[in-house]
Amino acid sequence: MSVINLEGIYTAYEGGEKAVIRDLSLRVGRGEYVVIGGPNSAGKTTLLESINGLIKITHGKATVCGLDLSTQADELRKKVGYVIQNFYFDPFTPFSVEQVVMMGRFGRLGLLNRPTKDDRQAVQKAMHLAGIEDLAQKAIGTCSGGQQQKAMIAHNLAKEPEVMMLDEPFSNLDFSAREYLQEVFKELARTGVPILMVAHAFDGLPDIPIHLVVMNRGRIAHDMSCSAGEVESIVRKECNAVDKDRTERRINAGADHTE
Ligand SMILES: Nc1ncnc2c1ncn2[C@@H]1O[C@H](COP(=O)(O)OP(=O)(O)O)[C@@H](O)[C@H]1O
Ligand SMILES: [Mg+2]
Repeated sequence: MSVINLEGIYTAYEGGEKAVIRDLSLRVGRGEYVVIGGPNSAGKTTLLESINGLIKITHGKATVCGLDLSTQADELRKKVGYVIQNFYFDPFTPFSVEQVVMMGRFGRLGLLNRPTKDDRQAVQKAMHLAGIEDLAQKAIGTCSGGQQQKAMIAHNLAKEPEVMMLDEPFSNLDFSAREYLQEVFKELARTGVPILMVAHAFDGLPDIPIHLVVMNRGRIAHDMSCSAGEVESIVRKECNAVDKDRTERRINAGADHTE
């Protein structure tokens, strides 16, 4: 059975009259490494937010980890890791990096219980994997953008999720950090956890079969298996087609005005 099963879903933002995601179907099985690409505002972030139950699905059927998204979203969010796009801490956030990573355990722990040995071990392991052990006591708000991204990745690793979703998680990281972390996610996928990663740069993808999803205008334009090396050209082709289309429409609109 698929871990993620979306059948003909539509989603719209609160107050938005138009569906952002339209008639979208997607299946993701255990241990798949899914790369989600496509032009700006194609609906990539909205897709992740739908899978996490953060946006209401107005039509269609959706189950994730066997839970129905329309009725069990709160329960589901405890099982899904989600590194959100462009998230930065306020400089005065009163938590250390280690505390932020420990918060990844709260879904299991409950807010008022003391961390057990298992919790502390999971936090140490996650900080080690993200390469931020030496930052444990540093105030999160004083960390660089790249360090904060690593801390949020560690937070979600410490959660020991059943699905890991990442929305452009590497925007502040250099090539070697990107390549290294993708190996970490490859290992996670090997243990059965599907990875869903929205990305614009595709260097350093692990050398395993990639489940590529290319989105355009709230729909899936391509849903295929390919090698890591093929990802970039397939996504680029779709983005170029959209750019060409947008430019032509702009030129035509301009021509209308001058007539
Ligand atoms: N909070 C929101 N409320 C209303 N519309 C939104 C909101 N967030 C995104 N959108 C719209 O949804 C569409 C898809 O956005 P998004 O999923 O962020 O695209 P991507 O991540 O592919 O760049 C865009 O047209 C965007 O304007
Ligand atoms: Mg986005």
